[in-house]
Amino acid sequence: MADGSPVVGQTFDPYAVRAQFPILSRTVNGKPLVYLDNAASAQKPRVVIDSLVAQMEGSYANVHRGLHTLSNEATEAFEAARDVVARFLNAPTPDNIVWTKGGTEAINLVANGVGLSIEPGDEIIVSDMEHHSNIVPWHLLRERRGAVLKWIPVLDDGSLDMAAYAELLGPKTKVVAVTHMSNVLGTINPIAEITRLAHAAGARVLIDGCQGAVHAAPDVQAVGCDWYVITGHKLFGPTGIGALYGTTDALESLPPYQGGGEMIAVVEKERITYAAPPHRFEAGTPPILEAIGLGVALDWLSGFDRAAVAAHEHALYEHARARLNGLDWLRVIGEAEGKGALLTFTVADAHAHDIAQIMDRYGVAVRAGMHCAEPLAKRMGVTSSTRASFALYNTVEDADAFVDALIKAREFFV
Ligand code: ALA
Repeated sequence: MADGSPVVGQTFDPYAVRAQFPILSRTVNGKPLVYLDNAASAQKPRVVIDSLVAQMEGSYANVHRGLHTLSNEATEAFEAARDVVARFLNAPTPDNIVWTKGGTEAINLVANGVGLSIEPGDEIIVSDMEHHSNIVPWHLLRERRGAVLKWIPVLDDGSLDMAAYAELLGPKTKVVAVTHMSNVLGTINPIAEITRLAHAAGARVLIDGCQGAVHAAPDVQAVGCDWYVITGHKLFGPTGIGALYGTTDALESLPPYQGGGEMIAVVEKERITYAAPPHRFEAGTPPILEAIGLGVALDWLSGFDRAAVAAHEHALYEHARARLNGLDWLRVIGEAEGKGALLTFTVADAHAHDIAQIMDRYGVAVRAGMHCAEPLAKRMGVTSSTRASFALYNTVEDADAFVDALIKAREFFV
C-alpha cells in the first residue's frame, strides 16, 4: 500500500494463512515465534506435511520401475507433481522440468554440461549480487576449463548496472547466469531484458529463481531464458527437492550429469544410449516424496492471488522500513526500486551475529552473516549483515515485533 499500512483483511488474510502452519504457534525462549528467516527456508503448511504422511501411508513405492499398483500410483503422483511445476513456471510441457535435489544441484547440472564444450577464454557473465550457488559452479569452469568470469556491477541502491552489462556481452560470452531476486538486497532484476541482450549476443541464459519464484509469479516463456532454477524448501515444500526448467533445445544441448538407472535408453557392454530429457538428468531413485510434497506446496501457493500476496509482503517490508527511518545507527543495504520483501541491515558498533542472537531471545528469527554472497558483501563494504525476510504468513504484529526487538538489541551496545 502506498501509505505503508499492511494489506490485512482485504484481498488476502495472513491470519488465516498462518493458522495453516503448525510451527508458527510455538514459542521460542518463552516468546511467540516471529519467523523472519523465510529467505533461508520457509515453513511448511499442514497440507504439505499431511501429503508426505499420506503418501508414505497409502501409496509409497519406487517410481517408473514396477508394474504393480503401488508403483503405478507413486509414479502417477510423482509425474503429476512435475506437471504442477511446469504450470507454476508456465513451462510448455512437463518434459521441460528436471527434478534436482535443490537449486544448487540444478545450477551445477547446467554448468557441468556447458563446461564440456567450454574452450579457454570463453566468457561466463555473472553478477556481483549472486549467491555462492550461482558463482562457485562457474568458478569450477574457470579452474577446470579456462573460462573467464565477468561480473555485472551492482549500483549503490542495489540494482544491477545494466549499461555495464551490455558492455560485458560479446562474441566470447557463452552463458549469462543471474539471479531473479537477490537474497541479500531484495533487488528484483529485469530478467527478460537480461535474456534479450544475452540472446542477441548469442549466449545462453540461466536465471536463479530460488528467491524470485517465491515472490513473483515467474513465466519462463515470457522471460525467454534457457534455464530457470527453483528450490522447494523456500517455496513451502520439503528440503532435498528442486527443479530445473529448460527449453527443449537448451536441455537437449546438455550431456548427462550423473550416470545410473533410469537415465538411459539402452545399455550394452560396448555402447550406451541415453534417455531424452528430463529423464536423462535423473539418474537413480529420485526424491519421490519430496517431489510430490513440492507439487502440493506449489498447488497450495498457486491457490492465492499472487499479486495480493506480494502486495501484503511488500507492505510489511514498508511498515518495518518506515519505523526504522531516521535511525542514525542503522544502515539498510539494498533499496532498489520494486525490491522484494526482505530487509538487510547493519547496526553501528554491533556485530550482525550478536544482533541476531539477541533478537532470538525475543523470539524473532532472522539470519546474519554474509548470506552466501561474499562478493556482494565486499561490494557493499560490509563483513556481515542481519536480514529479516517476510513471507505470506507474516503479519504487521511480526513486523512490529521485529522492529521492537531490533531496537532493544541495539541498546545492548550503547
Ligand atoms: N540462500 C539462503 C539464504 O539466503 C540459504 O539464506
